[in-house]
Amino acid sequence: MKEINTQTSFVVFDSFSELETEDKALLNKAKEAVANSYAPYSHFHVGAAILLENGIVVTGNNQENAAYPSGMCAERIAIWNASSQYPNTIIKKIAITVKSENKTVDKPVAPCGACRQTLLEYEVNQKEPIEVFFMGEVGTIVKANSLQDLLPFSFDESFL
Ligand code: THU
Repeated sequence: MKEINTQTSFVVFDSFSELETEDKALLNKAKEAVANSYAPYSHFHVGAAILLENGIVVTGNNQENAAYPSGMCAERIAIWNASSQYPNTIIKKIAITVKSENKTVDKPVAPCGACRQTLLEYEVNQKEPIEVFFMGEVGTIVKANSLQDLLPFSFDESFL
């Protein structure tokens, strides 16, 4: 028997002004994407913006449905939008932000497990890490250096 110790580091920015210009711009695109979220049931609006290697930014937002499980998260809409329009293009980073109708979300909102798994698929394929920036409406911003850091012991095609 043995124990494995892993160490993962995340960067925490105290405010928007600490970010690099490119990352500010990407988070601003995610904020813009929040505006077109369709969330009449949760009242929780999520926006995601993806920067591709070719400089193009592709966005997505959550789209809910009266049949609740038929809705979809912003991150998966964004990544599938990117992959469907620009297949086999390296994904550099994704920025995620939210706006709730119920309260001011003041802590960083990390992507859900299913979105992590979906994003990881593309990171594994491209063999290059995807940076993930996530934040609430206000407060600190977290940067994960890769999807692997957000989903250790993950499932991928190597098991198949
Ligand atoms: N949501 C996302 O868009 N991304 C996540 O990672 C977590 C949750 C959406 C789904 C649903 O429309 C609303 O937020 C409340 O769960």
